Amino acid sequence: MRTKITSIATYLPEKVVTNDDLSKSLDTSHEWIYTRTGIESRHVSSDEELTSTLAINATTKLMQQADVDPMSVDAIIVSTTTGDTRFPSCACKVQGAIGAYRAFAFDVNAACAGFIYALAVADSMMKAMKLRKVLLIASETITKFVDWTDRSTCVLFGDGAGAMLLEQTEDDNTGVIATKLYANGEEEKYNSILAHNGEQNGNRGYITMAGRTVFKYAIDYMAMSMNEILAESGMTIDDIDWIIPHQANRRILESMCKMRDFPLEKVIITTQEHANTSSASIPLALKDAMDGGTVKSGNTLLFTALGAGLTWGSAIVRI
Ligand code: COA
Repeated sequence: MRTKITSIATYLPEKVVTNDDLSKSLDTSHEWIYTRTGIESRHVSSDEELTSTLAINATTKLMQQADVDPMSVDAIIVSTTTGDTRFPSCACKVQGAIGAYRAFAFDVNAACAGFIYALAVADSMMKAMKLRKVLLIASETITKFVDWTDRSTCVLFGDGAGAMLLEQTEDDNTGVIATKLYANGEEEKYNSILAHNGEQNGNRGYITMAGRTVFKYAIDYMAMSMNEILAESGMTIDDIDWIIPHQANRRILESMCKMRDFPLEKVIITTQEHANTSSASIPLALKDAMDGGTVKSGNTLLFTALGAGLTWGSAIVRI
């Protein structure tokens, strides 16, 4: 029995903010941002567009395109670090909005590695609980948590959501082949190299980050988890058609490929248009690559991500 991604839909807020737009209010430039990150623009949610709004919009599209009866859905799992409220969960808001009243629903929070964590949770639960249809959604409005006066962080992020329909298949040659998760909370003692700080007394708090340290960890840990999952699956990078990493920064991906000997030509990069959308970035990149005809049915994909916590992990999926 395998868990297969049978349909995917995305939603991006209409408002696009370019690097030039940012340079009007910040001491920065397109040149600085683009050369260090590969980012050209990002989608930014309006005050009315909450994380649940993005999730519901992506899921509604998915339900229509895959012609899914809401009452056939067994579970809804949302990966997010930017839920509208501490509770109820974003997943419950989606459940109510689409009328999937048979489904249980909950959020997963593993920051930018959240999609891989949520995929691993969904895959395990589908097998253990014999679930037939699960909605796996990654939705983030990370720009609501940036300090727009801090040029070292605000230029890096964007908003978006991706929704996937996961179904059981008896075809052992497709679907989720392996998942591998890691965490290291020890970074707390270094005063959080990547965190959302100061959420107290009604203050929403802002993202803080030690950019150079995150850069180094991202390369080391994503490369390590890809090597480990490949070895444990009895595969090599030659068995992989496309690597779809978390889209934090093009330069991280280029450096990782150079330093750890991964083929850059197999890496899907959408950083230029999406920026870092936290856990939504892999589904957004996958959908773009499928729509553009790069990723095709039957391809073997290697997902990898690193986020605050630190959390990181990889997954191998045949689409
Ligand atoms: N525009 C112009 N200058 C900027 C700037 C901006 N947007 N942001 C920072 N700077 C300046 C700094 O103030 C610093 O100036 P100084 O030397 O006068 O003090 C200079 O640029 C270098 O800053 P530094 O932070 O050392 O730059 P960097 O080359 O390491 O690049 C990042 C910064 C954030 C792009 C890079 O560290 C990075 O990509 N890190 C990983 C971030 C990430 O992906 N996080 C999410 C992981 S999930």
